[in-house]
Amino acid sequence: MSLKLNTKYLKDFVNADEMAGIKAQVEAAAQSLHSKSGLGNDFLGWVELPTAYDKEEFARIKAAAERIKKNSDILIVIGIGGSYLGARAAIELLKSPLYNNMKKDTPDIYYVGNSINPAYLNEIIALCEGKDFSVNVISKSGTTTEPALAFRIFKKMVEDKYGKEEAKNRIFATTDKARGTLKNLSDAEGYETFVIPDDVGGRFSVLTAVGLLPIAVAGCDIDALMKGAAKAQADFCADFDNNDCYKYAALRNILYRKGKSVEMLVSYDPSFVMMSEWYKQLFGESEGKEHKGLFPASVTYSSDLHSLGQFVQEGSPILFETIALPRGSEKDSPRVPFDKENGDGLNFLAGKTFDEINERAMLGTLLAHRDGGTESLIVDFGGRDARSLGELIYFFFIACAASGYMLEVNPFDQPGVEAYKKNMFALLGKPGYEEGKAALEEKIKLI
Ligand code: PA5
Repeated sequence: MSLKLNTKYLKDFVNADEMAGIKAQVEAAAQSLHSKSGLGNDFLGWVELPTAYDKEEFARIKAAAERIKKNSDILIVIGIGGSYLGARAAIELLKSPLYNNMKKDTPDIYYVGNSINPAYLNEIIALCEGKDFSVNVISKSGTTTEPALAFRIFKKMVEDKYGKEEAKNRIFATTDKARGTLKNLSDAEGYETFVIPDDVGGRFSVLTAVGLLPIAVAGCDIDALMKGAAKAQADFCADFDNNDCYKYAALRNILYRKGKSVEMLVSYDPSFVMMSEWYKQLFGESEGKEHKGLFPASVTYSSDLHSLGQFVQEGSPILFETIALPRGSEKDSPRVPFDKENGDGLNFLAGKTFDEINERAMLGTLLAHRDGGTESLIVDFGGRDARSLGELIYFFFIACAASGYMLEVNPFDQPGVEAYKKNMFALLGKPGYEEGKAALEEKIKLI
């Protein structure tokens, strides 16, 4: 079943005139996107990717995944931002947030290079002891410090354990097709490499080898994932009136212009937590420029109903909620057992599935938040299967790009990310940053 936008609960907040008013702007944004005439138009390779992907490489990804499954207990995925979030989000949604603890015939997967925290690194190193492991290092630029540092550690671990020759069978690099330190190193060492196309930026890269190799290693159906995305590619280029993705872009922009500054992605499923992280990176890095953009936040209910829920109900009226709701119920949803004693008073729920109760919790929460002045819209998607996920990913891609164009920013660059890097390099004494180092040290003294 297709993804649908449910705007029923938004009716009192956004009227038909407002929708009609913004329609031309969404259409103009969509036109810029599809005619490749907008800002950052050299980064639009993801638009046709679900149908135009490299089939030869796709087969190599599957073959590499099979080899890793056979010879490894653990896959170490090294990457940061768009170079790891999509893979992790997909694996946790399709398998489980407890994937590593589950009984399975696929390797455990650990993610490193997304922080420089020594304790976390030590823990992962310890988990590899006595285990067979492979490494997938992912970096488009090939120069990002966090993953490069982690790779130095794990490259040595692979070489120490298996020797340089066998390392060629256990280290896989996903990077630029021709340039960068990682590409040069991989060619010199003889690692198998996969390509992040020039025209696909990190946060739009989950449907390239960046996401596909780890996702396939986890045993997820990457053919179905691409099919779902291909369906969305066809569905979400329809005209505005028949396009839920454009309507979503319109609504979030209307709410932004009416003073909402935070979009909170809501789910009722712990397996969606990393999808929310992926969504935050996608929208945060794409829209947050020139002092514009909705701040993308996320909550997982019921957990956060006993935390941020208070703020959503009665705090500053700065946010609206976008609820990501999988359609269809969990096949094996437990039922509440009948208890003769009824000491906990829960017999009114006896016989009900947890799914049914979760659905009522969702509706009750939505109505309460609505009374408190927090608008909700619902992205109703197929469920925790690869095809539905492919659709959902592509839906957010198009909505994000169109929203960025409506804000008149380039949704495909991330100039703001450079500021911290410059300071970090200067403070660490990277050659070429000597002047910056002196200036920063002076600044620290004066603060
Ligand atoms: O979306 C992006 O472009 C970024 O989040 C990158 O994915 C991230 O900075 C990692 O970059 P790289 O793949 O070059 O190491």
